[in-house]
Amino acid sequence: MDTQGAESSRARPVRAGLLLAAAATLAVGLVAVVHDLAQPRIEANENAQRVARLAAALGAERYDNDLLQDVVTARDPELLGTDEPVPIHRARLGGEPVAVLIEAVAPDGYAGSIRLLVAVGMDGRLLGVRVLSHKETPGLGDAIDERKSDWISKFAGRSLQDPAPERWRVRKDGGDFDQFTGATVTPRAVVHAVLNALVYFDGHRAAILAAPAGTVVAQSPASGR
Ligand SMILES: Cc1cc2nc3c(=O)[nH]c(=O)nc-3n(C[C@H](O)[C@H](O)[C@H](O)COP(=O)(O)O)c2cc1C
Repeated sequence: MDTQGAESSRARPVRAGLLLAAAATLAVGLVAVVHDLAQPRIEANENAQRVARLAAALGAERYDNDLLQDVVTARDPELLGTDEPVPIHRARLGGEPVAVLIEAVAPDGYAGSIRLLVAVGMDGRLLGVRVLSHKETPGLGDAIDERKSDWISKFAGRSLQDPAPERWRVRKDGGDFDQFTGATVTPRAVVHAVLNALVYFDGHRAAILAAPAGTVVAQSPASGR
């Protein structure tokens, strides 16, 4: 009897451990199932947000195609700010190209990379720039966000000729773009990235427009990249 009692008291923690392990496995499985079920909805929401941002940067009346479908990718770490392929959406009205939206990256923000959406019209002028994501400091660098200040709206209408390339800098560095009080690093990074996106479009315009949707933009032989 004593031996049986000792055995059952030894078995109790083992049984509890097994139960705990089974419960944990079940919980992990449930989380995975819920995640899998929710994933299509999460992706649909993200896509809807992207379309809204694209439309806001471009002006919804300017195009009539599906910006999420008419997309090509480009890889140019020097001008697009990342080793990753960068999506370029093509906006058309009645089948004619009216603008491209380049998901360029400013790699040198204060707190890391800043993802941008740079909308350029066929005349090479900026239609708008929006911040897709950033980690800049609230109250300092986050003034690049259109919800925090109108700084980013000042790019609209600018081009490679306006201002001249040497004035594509913040005022503190001798350029035409405002910096923020106590925060020069962030606007400097964004100004540089927007200029580079314009240079990329200027050098690859024909290839960007000619590439079939879903393909990679051919490198321009002239660029040597
Ligand atoms: C905690 C902390 C957070 C900061 N965050 C930012 C920021 O988000 N963006 C920015 O441009 N500068 C930020 N700064 C200030 C920069 O370090 C820098 O002093 C400022 O941008 C001026 O740069 P400049 O000397 O090259 O003109 C931050 C400084 C501190 C101490």
